[in-house]
Amino acid sequence: MLTMTDRQRRLRSQAWFDDPGNLDMSALHIERYMNWGLTREELQSGRPIIGIAQTGSDLVPCNRHHLELAERTREGIREMGGIALEFPVHPLQESAKRPAPALDRNLAYLGLVEVLYGYPLDAVVLTTGCDKTMPACLMAAATVNIPAIVLSGGPMLNGWYKGERTGSGTIVWKARELFAAGEIDEETYVELVASAAPSPGHCNTMGTASTMNALAEALGMSLPGCAAIPAPYRERARMAYQTGRRIVEMVAEDLKPSDILTREAFENAIVVNSAIGGSSNAPIHIGAIAQHIGVELPLDEWQRIGHEVPLLLNMQPAGEYLGEEFFRAGGVPAVVHELMEHGLIHTEALTVNGATIGENCRTAAATDRDVIARYDAPLVDNAGFLVLHGNLFDSAVMKTSVISDEFRERYLSDPAEPNVLQGRAIVFDGPEDYHARIDDPELMIDENCLLFIRGAGPIGFPGAAEVVNMQPPAELIKRGVHSLPCIGDGRQSGTSGSPSILNASPEAAAGGGLAILQTGDTVRIDLNSCTADVLVPDEELAERRRALDAAGGFSFPASQTPWQEIQRSMVEQLGDGMVLGPAVKYQRVSQT
Ligand code: FES
Ligand code: MG
Repeated sequence: MLTMTDRQRRLRSQAWFDDPGNLDMSALHIERYMNWGLTREELQSGRPIIGIAQTGSDLVPCNRHHLELAERTREGIREMGGIALEFPVHPLQESAKRPAPALDRNLAYLGLVEVLYGYPLDAVVLTTGCDKTMPACLMAAATVNIPAIVLSGGPMLNGWYKGERTGSGTIVWKARELFAAGEIDEETYVELVASAAPSPGHCNTMGTASTMNALAEALGMSLPGCAAIPAPYRERARMAYQTGRRIVEMVAEDLKPSDILTREAFENAIVVNSAIGGSSNAPIHIGAIAQHIGVELPLDEWQRIGHEVPLLLNMQPAGEYLGEEFFRAGGVPAVVHELMEHGLIHTEALTVNGATIGENCRTAAATDRDVIARYDAPLVDNAGFLVLHGNLFDSAVMKTSVISDEFRERYLSDPAEPNVLQGRAIVFDGPEDYHARIDDPELMIDENCLLFIRGAGPIGFPGAAEVVNMQPPAELIKRGVHSLPCIGDGRQSGTSGSPSILNASPEAAAGGGLAILQTGDTVRIDLNSCTADVLVPDEELAERRRALDAAGGFSFPASQTPWQEIQRSMVEQLGDGMVLGPAVKYQRVSQT
């Protein structure tokens, strides 16, 4: 319980409820909040008003259990003398929102900024889970900069099918492949995929949801150990309660996102992302959070800081296990502990519990070395992203933790050897074109081809589609060729194990080099120098560019909703976090 001394600082919410200079307005504000039973004492005695940003709903099954968890959070808030006010966040369900859930990340962000800024809130608990809920919430908390804490909802229990683990998302890629090869029928396909979702919670693989929640913890924005607790476990409800208690203390301490989200914290997140085999969506979302808090974090830093970090976590899609094993082995603190021991973590970075990440993780050694490997015996060396450049794009990202041994052996094993992917480009204009033509024999796709997809970036396909991980033609799969290098201006699901080069920026629709690539061109990707170029003479490229401009530029489907048009008019590229350009200049707005 807070003492009066803790509360001597005037709270932000008192400007609404207890403003001696404006009795009229104060009366009006308390009058309406009292209409459901709150008392003057609760609203006017300087108790912190804590928002609970609720991302769960019937539309968002991954976060739906937050509706119940919030009750435990309220109890924690109340016990420490705070008043909880829960409110909805624009729904963000990764598996359901069309045309791309990422389109709505910025919409949810904008909505949450307005709520945090415009209502009588002293602090906020951010309920996160499904992919974009963490970035939308943290971007908004960064912009407004009132005390904020992340409460993850946790992954689903492990999926099982006939004695084998089935990981959400990851199983879909496998099921598709088995189906394409004629090894399973439709019934088995659905059964296999559904087995991966046995309980409430977000994806149980190290997809984008597990990644973003783990990185919220690595950034210091959730209590230690929060991210990995499976949704149905009792520890999850305890964590909800402790998070509620802690946010009230954070108000007294005036501990704000800007105190925690420092350059060091972002570097910690990059390192942890490599060690857990995190999603290729991480640079987009973490980059967006950095921009909104005002920390410089160019995309190249992901390679410079993160590439040489080894993969320690044995979790699908890069490894074998799922969320329950990650939790039992020690979760994020155990990964941080292992990295700390080797000097890879800024241990002095502050976290929401008021201690440093070093203090929080000092004794958190992993309890299962099958799941969290020792730094000296990792699953994969150099497991972080590569950031590529060339005449096809200014930047694109390659996630190396998921690359097959065969591919790694061929292209990434020895930097003294040439590690070059060179082949004939097959170019698709968006996902529909890919699905319509991938099995077309006239394309003569063989094992030396590189598959390209364009028109899939934030402008071309509003929000950027998760489509870069394309499957080879069924004929090749039947012959045992399970993957071809894929390159594109879209994204790919964090649950995919494809060796793709993605998030290419600028995208074709913004005039990037992919717009003038043609099927049949030879493309050369050098993984030593991290370059990607189409081997066509400059004059020919200039000629193609003129022809494209004369035809009115790269064409893409019209917007179907007002928000699609608004976002397209001001969104930055994936390499720049896909943020809304005009939003970035509004920083720390609660202090203005
Ligand atoms: Fe919601 Fe994967 S679909 S977390
Ligand atoms: Mg996704």
